[in-house]
Amino acid sequence: MTAPLKGAVIGCGFFAQNHFAGWRDVAGAEIVAVCDLDRARAEAAARTFAAPPRIYTDAAALFAAEALDFVDIPTTMETHEALVGLAVSHRVPVIVQKPFGPNLAACRRMAAAADAAGVPLMVHEDFRFQPLFRRLKALLTAGEIGQPTFARLSWRTAIDVYSNQPYLVHTERFMIMDVGVHMIDLARFLLGEAESVFCRTQQIKQGIAGEDAATILLGHRGGATGIIDLSYAAHRDPDPFPQTLGEIEGEAGSILILPGEELVIKGRGGSRRERIAHDGRPWTSEPWRQIQDSVVRTQQHFVDALRAGTEPETSARDSLGTYAVVEAAYASAATGRAIDPATL
Ligand SMILES: NC(=O)c1ccc[n+]([C@@H]2O[C@H](COP(=O)([O-])OP(=O)(O)OC[C@H]3O[C@@H](n4cnc5c(N)ncnc54)[C@H](O)[C@@H]3O)[C@@H](O)[C@H]2O)c1
Repeated sequence: MTAPLKGAVIGCGFFAQNHFAGWRDVAGAEIVAVCDLDRARAEAAARTFAAPPRIYTDAAALFAAEALDFVDIPTTMETHEALVGLAVSHRVPVIVQKPFGPNLAACRRMAAAADAAGVPLMVHEDFRFQPLFRRLKALLTAGEIGQPTFARLSWRTAIDVYSNQPYLVHTERFMIMDVGVHMIDLARFLLGEAESVFCRTQQIKQGIAGEDAATILLGHRGGATGIIDLSYAAHRDPDPFPQTLGEIEGEAGSILILPGEELVIKGRGGSRRERIAHDGRPWTSEPWRQIQDSVVRTQQHFVDALRAGTEPETSARDSLGTYAVVEAAYASAATGRAIDPATL
């Protein structure tokens, strides 16, 4: 048995609670330190572990004192560049929450710094680690529906996202950064890179700083057309949160993603339905279960890649493709033109 990798978590806020629970389920890693500017949050986080980690309120002090194999950074995006830079300067591998950075230039600077230092840097992009999307990818790779021609990925809800994440009220790049990045990563995972991005944004709720709805039209290099539609102002019964719904059509069939984590497949293997349920770990709770389970799978992928010395799927380098589409979407929304992300 090799010793578990020793890690620290910087940021003990709302979503980090899932990270703490997740790390307890990950094989081959243990959390030895937690850090938050707010000491009470760090102390509360430490109490959730059977072997309480050491507590810091200053990330520089954490890196100076601890010998770490990795650091997990579930803070908000405007803090990432400084914290990732600190980790890289100490040659500590990083997994950092989405959104990677507030704009493409910041993402590129972080990726370049990690690359130059030879330090692994992965973006915590959990949607593609949901079992449903692993199954979908396997079906596409096996040629079940032939060459994809059309895809729609849809996230529409009116859940009160502002209570748990009050900073979203003031976030100027809101819907595409908050949920669009997940859908864009999924579109790239399933269909490959996009060479054309057209986007229309809407601000439906009064009094917020950014867009709370966006519709993105993607032209994928393989020829498929993709639609990503996102809304935090879609009043539905039942509210599908946090499910990603949609469909993929190919030259030889189609796969529908229906509520209840159900795939309806018409393809080379005939017509059938499959339910691809999430894990349902005991610490998870509705309606977040599907997301919470994929946090552990994302963390495990990071640890496995570190141990194997391989590049994780959503490395900083790979994620630049996602954030180029994000930048193209905002540029398209501002200009009314389709943008090729490769030109940015
Ligand atoms: N992957 C997902 O499904 C998912 C879901 C929800 C949120 N998120 C992401 O998680 C991230 C965090 O969101 P949140 O709602 O938990 O934020 P939050 O504001 O509740 O928590 C952030 C914490 O980081 C701390 N912090 C900030 N700068 C720090 C620093 N320099 N050193 C130490 N601590 C610092 C803050 O004090 C705060 O406690 C966001 O980027 C959000 O988009 C991801």
